[in-house]
Amino acid sequence: MSTRVKIVTGAEELRHLCNEARKRGESVGFVPTMGALHAGHLALVTEAKKHATFIVASIFINPTQFAPNEDFAAYPRDVENDIAKLATVGVNAVFTPEASTIYPPGEETRVRVGRTAAPLCGISRPHFFEGVATVVTKLFNLVGPCTAVFGKKDYQQLAVIRRMAADLMMPVTVVGHPIVRESDGLAMSSRNRYLSAADRERALSLSRGLAKASRAFKEGERRSETLRSLVDDEVRVASDSVDYVEIADPETLVAIQAGQPVGERALVAIACRIGATRLIDNEVLGENG
Ligand code: PAJ
Repeated sequence: MSTRVKIVTGAEELRHLCNEARKRGESVGFVPTMGALHAGHLALVTEAKKHATFIVASIFINPTQFAPNEDFAAYPRDVENDIAKLATVGVNAVFTPEASTIYPPGEETRVRVGRTAAPLCGISRPHFFEGVATVVTKLFNLVGPCTAVFGKKDYQQLAVIRRMAADLMMPVTVVGHPIVRESDGLAMSSRNRYLSAADRERALSLSRGLAKASRAFKEGERRSETLRSLVDDEVRVASDSVDYVEIADPETLVAIQAGQPVGERALVAIACRIGATRLIDNEVLGENG
């Protein structure tokens, strides 16, 4: 099924479009993205359609979540194809603003994030979640969604957004969607297109490590250091550098230290570099069987 998609670049135009939809009695669902879309992103749209009738997706490579040394300039851009893909899953409107629309001259306000943003990716990317929280707030304020869908691929991002929506009393339900993987286990990511064939092979170490920890957990292993080593051993030999391999509380994201046993559920989270490409992956042990 392919719908006619409305392409919107102006902020007030977007606000108006969503207000009009609500006046018609529609409920608005929202999926924010940075483009270079894959089946993982499209699954979020399909999820949004279960919760709302008028679906807005945004494609915006948000400059404030990239540090100067990161890949903002090189981040893949493929807007024409992205819009075509969004049409096939029934998106009603796509918001593709210029950076100056979201960050006009004189703007200075940021959303300050807290403890949830501090560990894991917050250590190597200290301004990342403030940038994410700020842009998501701006987008929520324009779209006014009743439901917004985020992927569990970015587990900590989802946790930070949930926290923000609750703390700032935002009238939106934040829905998390499971990680969508390639058939060999690699978590889909816009950055995967940068991987050479050899690097892609090495990138399988992330899902392989998670599968080993998952198997051990199912067989009763509860020592955090053992679970962590199963993942770390896989990832460390295959990658060029490791930001973290952590066993953490799935709610607070606080690391479970060696010597502390894990509970009924535990987050295993990985961030590493394969070549120049930074990859993340995770699994919550004790979830989904
Ligand atoms: P982006 O990396 O484009 O991801 C957009 C959404 O798609 C996020 O919610 C992300 O978790 C989800 N996603 C990506 N790969 C996925 C996969 N394999 N399975 C399931 N979901 C997946 O995340 C961002 O953009 C930005 O930080 C954003 C929230 C748009 C703010 O700028």
